Amino acid sequence: MGDKIFFENEMFENLRFSSSRIFFDSRMLKITNDNVITTKYISNKSIDLIVTSPPYNVDIEYSSHNNKLSYRDYLNFSKNWLSRCFEWLKDDGRFCLNIPIDKNKGGQQSVGADLITIAKDIGFKYHSTIVWNEGNISRRTAWGSWLSASAPYVIALVELIVILYKKTWKKTSGSRESDITKEEFME
Ligand SMILES: C[S@@+](CC[C@H](N)C(=O)[O-])C[C@H]1O[C@@H](n2cnc3c(N)ncnc32)[C@H](O)[C@@H]1O
Repeated sequence: MGDKIFFENEMFENLRFSSSRIFFDSRMLKITNDNVITTKYISNKSIDLIVTSPPYNVDIEYSSHNNKLSYRDYLNFSKNWLSRCFEWLKDDGRFCLNIPIDKNKGGQQSVGADLITIAKDIGFKYHSTIVWNEGNISRRTAWGSWLSASAPYVIALVELIVILYKKTWKKTSGSRESDITKEEFME
């Protein structure tokens, strides 16, 4: 979505802060704050692209979500919201899933591999994975396994952005025109 959308006058005319939880609604953009599991605001087969950074189940407090679920419950929760995303996507819709490779807080688990497996079971097709090397080594990881040879500390310092799609990778709906200029692309 381009900046143009945000500078339309209608943006301000359509701002709402009622209990409907739709904060903004225009021809091209709708902003809602709702629970992904129960929301009724999104129609099936209506979405071209979903980009999401879901809860990682690493003990972070969110007002909306219990991030201390057992790993089994976390995977069940993930299966539920991944299924909803699958229904919302058009047949040529794409899905970018930002997740850690693994977690060590509260027990080591292969979060990345497990969520990809669940997504594929639901019906998502796998395209590729971008490795996001954030480069922000925390104090905890900076010392590595120094002086702990009996139980070495091993953790991946990168995250994944897994690229999945629903049925066809090549777009068949919409204009199928590449509508950004060379300058915009280079930038
Ligand atoms: C890893 S954080 C994503 C943070 C985000 N990428 C950012 O930079 O602010 C996961 C987010 O999922 C939200 N969340 C948790 N459960 C949810 C649910 N059932 N429906 C919608 N959002 C939920 C949390 O409130 C949290 O903001």
